[in-house]
Amino acid sequence: MDLHISLEGPGDRTDRIYRQLRDAILDGRLRHGERVPPSRALARDLAVARNTVAAAYDRLVGDGFLAGRAGAGTFVAYRGSATVARRAPVGPLRPSRRFAALGPEDPATPPARYDLRIGHPDASLFPLAAWRRLLGRSLHASADYHDPSGLPPLRSAIARHIGLSRSVRASGEDVLVTSGAQQAIDLVARVLIEPGATVAVEEPGYRPVRRLFASLGARVAGVPVDADGIVVDLIPPSARLVYVTPSHQHPLGIAMSLERRSALLDWAQEHRAAIVEDDYDSEFRYSDRPLEPLQSLDRAGRVIYVGTFSKTLLPSLRLGFLVAPEALRPALRAARRIADWHGEPAAQAALAAFIDEGLLQRHLRSVGRVYAARHDLLVRAARGPLAPWYTLVPSSAGLHAALRCTAPVDVDGVVRRLRAADVALEPLTRFYAEPRRVPDQGLAIGFGAIATADLPEALDRLAAATRPS
Ligand SMILES: Cc1ncc(COP(=O)(O)O)c(C=O)c1O
Repeated sequence: MDLHISLEGPGDRTDRIYRQLRDAILDGRLRHGERVPPSRALARDLAVARNTVAAAYDRLVGDGFLAGRAGAGTFVAYRGSATVARRAPVGPLRPSRRFAALGPEDPATPPARYDLRIGHPDASLFPLAAWRRLLGRSLHASADYHDPSGLPPLRSAIARHIGLSRSVRASGEDVLVTSGAQQAIDLVARVLIEPGATVAVEEPGYRPVRRLFASLGARVAGVPVDADGIVVDLIPPSARLVYVTPSHQHPLGIAMSLERRSALLDWAQEHRAAIVEDDYDSEFRYSDRPLEPLQSLDRAGRVIYVGTFSKTLLPSLRLGFLVAPEALRPALRAARRIADWHGEPAAQAALAAFIDEGLLQRHLRSVGRVYAARHDLLVRAARGPLAPWYTLVPSSAGLHAALRCTAPVDVDGVVRRLRAADVALEPLTRFYAEPRRVPDQGLAIGFGAIATADLPEALDRLAAATRPS
């Protein structure tokens, strides 16, 4: 037997002998039934104490790699090694065909000095001191697993909060706490969608959710969005689930009209389909009267309402929730348990206290004023320096709006020139699954991440990058 053991490198000597013998067995250099040198002989060859080798052998025997036979010596006991050695080499592990068909993830647009990317709140507005205090108070060791639906005080606090702020009809029992909106939608899809089922999404729309549905084997159908929201007449009749962002369409920013809302609810009832209402950022409002959520208009139990604290607090907290019709609750709770059992209880307790002590309301009021000022700056720029080429798509909530081109503009060129001028933003084409069929060109403008003082300069740079030279 040609057994080479090196004692160079870090780690204690027993450990190195153990690892090298184990590796030789695992990759078939030492086969089942083969005799290893007596510990005394190996110790002599390696110039180490016999105990050093004996301890390594003991560990290998204890782990089942070696076995001693009285009077005959020590032999390889692990059977896998012989099998590995005989088989033809196989390729690396690969994801399932369904997963591979998803293709690579969308490359993230990198940030810049002037950050107009959408979906990012202002981290400097996060109430860090209050959160630290509440989290510190909530951190206590608990040996047990928790309820997959979430901490009861948080579920009640969320139900009260969305009842007041969004007129969602829910009690704590109806709320399931999730790791962000993304997990809420994942749980709903797991529970409702058979592989091969059709799911309708808005086109343009929120790509991470489109990929989520595809990853579960759904046939994802993009449905156009007009000035009133998703065009209900174009939803495929076979769709089992329709995913929409009615309060603030992602990325166009429009609110679904009341008429369209009731058409969508009628459609879902008629086709026995579910609606996922993703209300991800409408707590920031720039007009008096928000439209009723689909959830509160729904009388047929078709709507699952999804919310998140990613925009009101921080995306990294991974705190979201869903409100589902009663019939789906046990399955959704089971799905959460299958996925990761439950979220992080300390953060959930901290958020419950944050809501109960009135801090969320206060935070939303003060942060809302900051975002309203930014929204105002964008409205003014759209009426002023940007008016020759763009019009602002009407939008009265959230942290972004869309600029639609009203004159010929080389949008990709504008994005490139802005990148060179240290401004990050994305063209509307990025939000289409089929960018070649885009009806109109434009830009999505996020005002969550950029400081208010920087926004006028960023918008001036946008005008300069659009102006023909
Ligand atoms: C349409 C939409 N839904 C949901 C979210 C938030 O997802 P999460 O709560 O998983 O962070 C975003 C964030 O950008 C979004 O744009």
